[in-house]
Amino acid sequence: MNLKKELQRITSVFFEDTKDYSKSFSALKKYKKLLLGISNETINNEEHRNNVLFENGIAIGTLWAANCLDDLVRTLKFIIGINIAIQEKIQQKDSLHILYAGTGPFASLILPFILKYADLNITYTLLEVNPLSFETLKSTIKKLGFETNNINFINQDATKYQFPKNFSPDIIISETMQRALDSEQQVSIFYNLMRQSDSDTIFIPEKITLAIGTGSSKVKKTDIQQKCYLKHNNVFEVSKKAMNSNDWLFEKTSNKLDFTKKHTVLKEEELSTASEIVVMTEITIYRNEKLIINESGLTIPKYIKDVSDNKKESLTIKSQYVIGSEPKLELKIV
Ligand SMILES: C[S@@+](CC[C@H](N)C(=O)[O-])C[C@H]1O[C@@H](n2cnc3c(N)ncnc32)[C@H](O)[C@@H]1O
Repeated sequence: MNLKKELQRITSVFFEDTKDYSKSFSALKKYKKLLLGISNETINNEEHRNNVLFENGIAIGTLWAANCLDDLVRTLKFIIGINIAIQEKIQQKDSLHILYAGTGPFASLILPFILKYADLNITYTLLEVNPLSFETLKSTIKKLGFETNNINFINQDATKYQFPKNFSPDIIISETMQRALDSEQQVSIFYNLMRQSDSDTIFIPEKITLAIGTGSSKVKKTDIQQKCYLKHNNVFEVSKKAMNSNDWLFEKTSNKLDFTKKHTVLKEEELSTASEIVVMTEITIYRNEKLIINESGLTIPKYIKDVSDNKKESLTIKSQYVIGSEPKLELKIV
């Protein structure tokens, strides 16, 4: 089988104008099967399940990174968003540089473009910290038979990576997150890369917000219980705008990123129908490509506290995003 042709045939479905989601989802499954087939023997060992721990959070194991492809809505929307960004940028410039931080073993969000835009002058820098994922990435691209003179492979930590002289990527992509921005290094990675990039560099995702919300159970006519979520207050944002706001503070003495504390008051009437307090995650991938609540594993609400018995008083939730070996939105309910 000509793997390159097969990859192009499968992934071309993502770019068809007729937004046929079932066709795209079936193509995504074939895409993963093809990539797993190429790397099967190399990512199936125990060591490929191990997360790697860093001072700014974890880098997930190779197998788990490969499995990110199973989040079909996420993967499809990221690919569509990246395509919009490339098309916008290529109208403005003859040559582009795309930096992909946290590629996993397959660079799955960018691979389709290396073929689709082979005739354009695009250079790709693929950055991955997990050495096992990095090795699989290189061997996958080799086995696919790609020309690699426009691809740079870098096995480094994106929270520390320093741009070489005269390096100014037009688009920077990183999906290094879990819901509620728990555990992984998205915030530190974007901080490091945003600080070094030009003001017109496109970041994908463009914006991530965390909000305090409440959930309540509704029983529908069909007797099916459905949870409804209500957003109350945005408490943390990752975007170029947020990074330049007073909410993001860099402590020079401790060499640490710090974020302002937020207070959210949930009034008695707001809690009267609620059963739980949650953290809600919303992601703007690029322009109109968004992941709304519960649409992807990345936007599943994070359960914080049961409030079904607590109808008589208001509650104050103090929150602050913290970076460390376990990055997270820290919460105190008073
Ligand atoms: C959630 S997976 C996503 C994999 C793939 N990009 C995708 O979207 O399907 C995140 C990847 O980023 C890598 N990663 C995490 N922290 C990193 C860091 N500080 N520098 C470089 N890569 C990192 C992990 O090892 C993992 O392969």
